[in-house]
Amino acid sequence: MKKIIAANWKMNLSVRQSLRLARSLAAAIKKEGLVRKADILVFPDFLSLPEIASLLGKVDVKLGAQDCAASGYGPHTGQTAATSLKVAGARYVICGHSERRALGEDDAVVRAKAIQAISAGLVPVICLGEPAGVREKGKQLSYVRAQLLKLLAGGLAGKFILAYEPIWAIGTGKSPNPTEVSSMHQMIYEEAERLSGRPPRVIYGGSVDASKAKSFLSQPHIDGLLIGGASLKVASFLAICRQA
Ligand code: PGA
Repeated sequence: MKKIIAANWKMNLSVRQSLRLARSLAAAIKKEGLVRKADILVFPDFLSLPEIASLLGKVDVKLGAQDCAASGYGPHTGQTAATSLKVAGARYVICGHSERRALGEDDAVVRAKAIQAISAGLVPVICLGEPAGVREKGKQLSYVRAQLLKLLAGGLAGKFILAYEPIWAIGTGKSPNPTEVSSMHQMIYEEAERLSGRPPRVIYGGSVDASKAKSFLSQPHIDGLLIGGASLKVASFLAICRQA
């Protein structure tokens, strides 16, 4: 199966910059035939979604949104319904990124978002991972297992992806050892399959750049990468895609 290489642009770019990056990416990905090697996913901000959907759709790059509401249409000021994201061209949506969790989202909210995503026909990319204090005590496996129980108990009625992103590794330049990540992913995979009855794909995110990508992608149980900072430049993102 092809590896997933996902670009999370966060709120780093204006709409104009997002369109420029999408255009350059589309041209380069087409020229090199990179979608034959990897499932390439791009997560721009909400406002750029519709235009980028048509740009990237032509070269078979898949589009996702960075968040969705935990409920359907209703009086929820400032929220965006998963169904609207689908209409705008998204096929995936990130649920529970640590930068959202830092604003107060807990596992119950993240689960509700994933359920909304699935019922709208999107594939949720559900993020989980331990903070620095838990890692310092060496308790990351039990912490992540407990998160999975809250996210997946009772199952999820559709396809989903899990993204293991240790919070201390996001945007810091620090990342865990790829062999450790591989054993974490094996646990996540087995536990998620037991809880949901379906085998998920499990990707890793946290300070991956072109110099580290291969060391993660060559490990068993690492089905792909979620890239933040290194996805903002065409050259560094393509260098990662080429290693898939
Ligand atoms: P980073 O971000 O690659 O900049 O560490 C990853 C993420 O937040 O998904």
